[in-house]
Amino acid sequence: MNVDSTKIRDQYSVYLEKVATDFEDLFLGKREGHLAEYMYEGVEDSFKEVTKENEHYYVIRSDIDNISKNSKDLYGVLGDDINFIELGPGSESSVKEKTLPLLKEFKSISSYHAVDYHIKFSLSASNLVKLFIPNVQNVFSYKSDFTKDFPVQKINGRVCVLLWGSTFSNFLDSEINQILQNINKHLKVGDFFIASMDCSSDLDLIKKAYSAKKISRTIIINIFKFFKNKFNLHCFDDSKFEFEYKWNKEKNEVNLCLKAKEAQRFSFYGRIIDIPKGKKYSLVRSRKFSQGWVDLMLRNNGFKCAKTFSNKENVAVNIYVAQKV
Ligand SMILES: C[S@@+](CC[C@H](N)C(=O)[O-])C[C@H]1O[C@@H](n2cnc3c(N)ncnc32)[C@H](O)[C@@H]1O
Repeated sequence: MNVDSTKIRDQYSVYLEKVATDFEDLFLGKREGHLAEYMYEGVEDSFKEVTKENEHYYVIRSDIDNISKNSKDLYGVLGDDINFIELGPGSESSVKEKTLPLLKEFKSISSYHAVDYHIKFSLSASNLVKLFIPNVQNVFSYKSDFTKDFPVQKINGRVCVLLWGSTFSNFLDSEINQILQNINKHLKVGDFFIASMDCSSDLDLIKKAYSAKKISRTIIINIFKFFKNKFNLHCFDDSKFEFEYKWNKEKNEVNLCLKAKEAQRFSFYGRIIDIPKGKKYSLVRSRKFSQGWVDLMLRNNGFKCAKTFSNKENVAVNIYVAQKV
């Protein structure tokens, strides 16, 4: 075995250990809402499926409307010859409906960098930008976890970090602080960070969006499917779960859960895991943010909020334009 294949194998065993720990933590009740990373594994285009199958899922629609209505103004704020770093670009449709409409406004873009922990997402994002935005000079893609430091090529000139899709919704405050610190490291004073964040407080809207069972089929059950396949767990049956969502009033968040329709037992890394009938596992959280929270988080991490764009007809997902101070 040569050095490179040993290195690749080592990286893979580190990854496998992390996946095993993540799932063990869930089954042993040590952590919850932390498995969003695995939602998209093997799913072709979750973004497309979720919007197609659930007309009430406002998060995607509201984000797209808000970006398209305000892309000219966003261009006005940022100006030409800027370098974009997009964190978590996601699947092809999200890049086509969110990132490209904004980038098309620019006469000249110095570079575009896509960072995602799924390499297929960062590659497809940078390929789409190369294909549809002729005015961008250089395009790069990276597979990286942005809660750790994310590497990018050396950038000369002004920078804007993009984060669409209320991606912060899945993270705890401590993790968001870490991501903001990581972003800050790549920026100079006056550079931009643009994020869309779900600020909905309309409980009816939230209920309609998350009570749709189809979200589960596409992405939430996929987390258990991924777990079963990754570890060849013949005794673990992912079809014995049903989707449930729970509105957590104190935390202002939706918990996306799977509830056991039947009891089952399986062995994992020598440990017996018992799943009683009716047991609920909270796999993913979707936080809803307040203006006060956004201002505080930005301020605590060296940013000021320069502008907010909200979709007046359907107040839900806002776009925050922050600047490094
Ligand atoms: C909520 S989706 C948003 C996708 C897309 N930007 C949109 O607006 O629909 C989050 C995206 O970020 C990526 N992601 C989430 N956490 C990440 C992390 N810690 N490091 C790298 N990528 C991450 C996911 O793979 C996914 O592509």
